[in-house]
Amino acid sequence: MPTVLHGKHIVLGVTGSIAAFKAADLASKLTQHGAAVDVVLTPDAARFVTPLTFQALTHRPVTTDLFDPRIAMDHVALAQRADVIVVCPATAHTLARLALGLADDALAATVLASRAPLVVVPAMDAQMFDHPAVQEHVARLHARGARIVGPMEGRLASGLVGRGRMAEVPEVLGHLRAVLGAATGDLRGTTIVVTAGGTREPLDPVRVLTNRSSGKMGYAVAEAARDRGARAILITAPTALPDPPGVDVRRVETALEMREAVLAACRDADALVMTAAVADYRPAAPAPQKVKKGAPTWTVELVETPDILTEAGAAAPALVRVGFAAETTDLVAAARAKLVRKGLDLIAANDVSAAGSGFGADTNRLVLIDREGRVEDLPVLPKFDAAWILLDRVRALLASGWTRP
Ligand code: PMT
Repeated sequence: MPTVLHGKHIVLGVTGSIAAFKAADLASKLTQHGAAVDVVLTPDAARFVTPLTFQALTHRPVTTDLFDPRIAMDHVALAQRADVIVVCPATAHTLARLALGLADDALAATVLASRAPLVVVPAMDAQMFDHPAVQEHVARLHARGARIVGPMEGRLASGLVGRGRMAEVPEVLGHLRAVLGAATGDLRGTTIVVTAGGTREPLDPVRVLTNRSSGKMGYAVAEAARDRGARAILITAPTALPDPPGVDVRRVETALEMREAVLAACRDADALVMTAAVADYRPAAPAPQKVKKGAPTWTVELVETPDILTEAGAAAPALVRVGFAAETTDLVAAARAKLVRKGLDLIAANDVSAAGSGFGADTNRLVLIDREGRVEDLPVLPKFDAAWILLDRVRALLASGWTRP
């Protein structure tokens, strides 16, 4: 699986919070994604989770003591090798150390010796987090360019509920991917607009016409674009998916709302990838009140919705436009006809009747067809992997400096 984490050096600083156990999961996930994870524990962190745990998960030595002669790890070398440093969880005390530039433990010294991007994931009692002293330190770190992730509102170890709970590991991973993408990605400097999900067209205040799109394909494209350093704008119809960290998410409901949002976002974008299943027709006049059960039939007049891809091309002729075509028969011919009709640069023909492909699935089978008639038949792939290959093609179009005739 392509991933921005692969081959990256990540310093994971762990400090003395009960949330330290979650850092073990983070270390494990980062290692599984192919990152080399060097863990630096504060002495208090080592009281919650042992160095051996991290050593076993990362297969690398763990630093706990700046002056321990048995540990060959040089904190300056560690700092300079790091592609990113993540402090997770970060206690109030560590936030203060980092904000003030103190260097009295291995973690603080490593952070000070590094110019790598810094991600800080606070976890503490809500009263502590809200204290002006902590807020000042957070603000100072933020102003210096650190990315602060969380904390979230929720149940705390004390049993109280408040804002102090550490962000969940998938959220932290998403932010790390965004930071690494922004530092090293091959789509840096571009803005890519992605649509996702199935629009909802109201019949009355409680009923809608919609389709089976889960949004997974579009979210995967947005995440892959983010991981590659693009400014990713995700315009999404309602889905059950959480907002991907580091992506500018704009939620809409109807085809008309999606059209407005897409046209606005595309004004200064480089590419538009429309994976959304946009309603082709909407009720002409939604009932203002709930339609009561009783009549044996209910006839609804539908009117055509505007074609967003075509309008986006007319509004921004230099925009690279990629459509998806959900088909059940004549896959390539039908998709090619859409490519021509909408004047697209690329279309992903999507066989939505194949096993493991299309609506709701975690995998997809796409056939990529470009304006020159080249056809690339991809196997069934995780949607993220398919998105990555699609973006290879978008990148090539952007890099070629190709302009529409
Ligand atoms: O969301 P998932 O569950 O992951 O499923 C993914 C998917 C099956 C929805 C996705 O891979 C897919 O195939 N999306 C296209 C669905 C579709 O509506 O295809 P279409 O052939 O009807 O439309 C062709 C293209 O025109 C699409 O890019 C569509 O976004 C766009 N369109 C459609 C109607 C409209 N009014 N304006 C548009 O721009």
